Order: sequence, then structure tokens, then C-alpha cells
Amino acid sequence: MRMNVLPGILRNLTLVVLVGCSQPLLAFEVFSPLPHNAPEPADNPQTPARIALGKQLYSDTRLSVNNTISCNTCHDVNRAGADGRVRSVGALGKSPRRSTPTVLNAAFQSVQFRDGRAASLEAAVTDHLFDLDVLANPDEAGLIERITASKGYRRQFTRAFGKEQPVTAHNIAKAVAAYVRTLITPESAFDRYLKGDKKALSENARRGFEEFQKIGCSACHFGINISGPPVPMGEGFYELFPNYPGSEYDRKYNLVTDDLGRYEATKEDIHKRLFQVPTLRNIALTAPYFHTGSVPTLDEAVRVMAKTQLQQDLTDKQVKYLAAFLNSLSGTLPD
Ligand code: HEC
Ligand code: HEC
Repeated sequence: MRMNVLPGILRNLTLVVLVGCSQPLLAFEVFSPLPHNAPEPADNPQTPARIALGKQLYSDTRLSVNNTISCNTCHDVNRAGADGRVRSVGALGKSPRRSTPTVLNAAFQSVQFRDGRAASLEAAVTDHLFDLDVLANPDEAGLIERITASKGYRRQFTRAFGKEQPVTAHNIAKAVAAYVRTLITPESAFDRYLKGDKKALSENARRGFEEFQKIGCSACHFGINISGPPVPMGEGFYELFPNYPGSEYDRKYNLVTDDLGRYEATKEDIHKRLFQVPTLRNIALTAPYFHTGSVPTLDEAVRVMAKTQLQQDLTDKQVKYLAAFLNSLSGTLPD
């Protein structure tokens, strides 16, 4: 899904904002608080056994071909689900072509990866297991052998998936995905504000929220994950980046590369340079920014977005307010 007629959305949005000023409830339809539980798929229930197993696997280097890295190496739960690097380094020393996004609240995205090539968290884990730039398993056999060698794991897989051949890549993906569905961060200041605690936002953050809507950031970043409309699982919400190419930032931060985004997954010309609109939750904690990882600070990411997506130059005050608003999107991790 892509909203083609941006000016149209902006007009609608302006309407919402204007009405929203006197009737704040309307704004709540565009932004709603993060739920305490993520949606779970029918074929992978969130059982305690699966979550516990997935949690253990998440930090286990045996998932990588040479026992060197785990999910947590790149998506460090104690670093807001990312690793702070421009590019992470895979098991074989090669870097994935894109900067690592946070895994926190990924459970609320309807597709995974910047090009949306994985239709579920389970598919994303499987993709990573066999991606030579990530966990780099050439096939399933070695992986199964490493996991099956552990008596503890054999027992846990049986508990989570039954007696019949429980240790498979498929079940590894299910367990890890079940754990990732618990990595959500409700009760940010913004969420508390949306639920009616008007004091939860600082004055600057409140002004930033206004700017966010007035300038038009919220044409793309809205909904519970601040990443667009609710679309069915397996479908994504993509936008052009840069939407207005040719600004000084394109060169300064090398924004226009041979990475064609959604096109890489579909090979359809109309998908060139479309990227999944990412969540802005916990964004203050996950520098550097964009799929390029080339923008080091939040203030600068805000200026880049205003210019590349909305063709606007912001004042220093606007940047300060927007950054204060974005800071209010940091929530609390379940332990
Ligand atoms: C070497 C670093 C690395 C490791 C290890 C790694 N990832 Fe990732 N992860 C990435 C990168 C890079 C992306 C973005 C890929 C893309 O968009 O093409 C990503 C994307 C994701 C996403 C999608 C997030 C989004 O917003 O689209 C999820 C979910 C995810 N990883 C979970 C995991 C899990 C679970 C593991 C362990 C099984 C894992 N990752 C291991 C680097 C890594
Ligand atoms: C036309 C749609 C659109 C508009 C309008 C828009 N964004 Fe974005 N935003 C995107 C897309 C697409 C990306 C992902 C780009 C990429 O991965 O390189 C993104 C990425 C971001 C990021 C970096 C996320 C990350 O994890 O690295 C931030 C911060 C951000 N936007 C903030 C804003 C702000 C603030 C505004 C208003 C000034 C805004 N956006 C307006 C579509 C939009």
C-alpha cells in the first residue's frame, strides 16, 4: 500500500488537526496508545514455554553458523533493540546492506524489513537464519545439530512444540518470534498523554506534537506505532524516500544509493525507492538513523525528514520541539 497523492492526505490531515484542536478526541483516532499486548497469529500462540525458549534462543550464539553472534548482538534489548552502529556485522564478518532497525514493537508492524520482504516475525527470523550477511547458516542441518546437542534445549522444544521432531528451523523461528512479541514498550509519556494525563508531556513536547501534525510528519507517521495506517498482516505501508530528491542532504548523507527499497523484494518499477515507514517509538534511543544509518543525531534526522519528505526548512525552535516530542515516545520495556 502506498498513498500516492500526498497533498491530498495533507489536506485531510490538516482538517483533522484543525478540528482536533477543539475536539481532541478526533486526534486520538489518528494516534492511539500502544497496547500492552501484541497481536498473536493463530498458528503461533504466545505460550509461556515458547516465550521462555525464544528468549533463550534470542541471546544464543548457536543460532549463527560459527557460534559468534546472536540476535541480541545486533538488536540489543538493553540498547533499545538496536546496536547503535551505522552497519552491523554478520557472523561471517560481512555487513548487511542496511542499518539495523530496532526490534522493539516490531510486533505491531504488519510486515518486516525495510523492503517488507518478510510477511511475519516468523518469516523475518527464518530470513535472518539463512542470510549469509546475518546468521549465515548455509542450511538447516548444522543449525539443528548445534541446538539438538543441548539436552536442555531438547527438553524445552518438546515442552513448547510437542514430541514429534520438535527441533526445526520452523520452530526456532516460532519461539523467537513469540519472544519478540513481548518486546513492546507501552506507557511512554506520549501514551500517558493520549490516555488523558495532560501533564505527561512537557510544554516543548506538546508543542512538538502540534508541529508534527501541522508540518505534515503525521501524514506518514501515525497510528499506534507512529508508522502509518493499520493494514492487514502481510501488507505494508511504504513511502518514497527521498520524496523530494535533490536536496543538499541527499549528498551529505548519501541517501540515494543503489538500495531501491521495496523494489528489491518485488522487482516492480513502481516500487523503486519506496521504504517501509518505520516506527518512531523509542526513536531517541536508536541513533544512527535511516536505512543508510548515515544521519547521526535525532535533530538532524528531523531536519532531513522535513526537507526530503515535505520540502520544508525548519527553524531551530521547530527542531527543538519536534525532538522533544520524539523523546516522549520512549516507553518502558517489560523486564
Ligand atoms: C548482523 C546483525 C543482525 C542480527 C544478528 C540479527 N538482525 Fe535482525 N535485522 C538486522 C538488519 C540489518 C535488519 C534490516 C534488514 C532489512 O531491512 O533488509 C534487521 C531487521 C530485523 C527485523 C525487522 C524490523 C523492522 O522494523 O523491519 C526483525 C523483527 C529482526 N531483525 C529480528 C531479529 C531476530 C529475532 C534476530 C535473531 C534470530 C535477528 N534479528 C538477528 C540485523 C541483524
Ligand atoms: C512521505 C512520508 C513521510 C513523511 C511526511 C515523514 N516521514 Fe519520516 N520516514 C518516512 C520513511 C519512508 C522513513 C524511512 C526512511 C529510511 O529508512 O531510510 C522515515 C524515517 C524517519 C525517521 C528515522 C527512523 C529510523 O528508525 O531511522 C525519523 C526520525 C522520522 N522519519 C521522523 C519524521 C519527522 C519528524 C517528520 C516530519 C518533519 C517525518 N518523519 C515525515 C516517511 C515519512
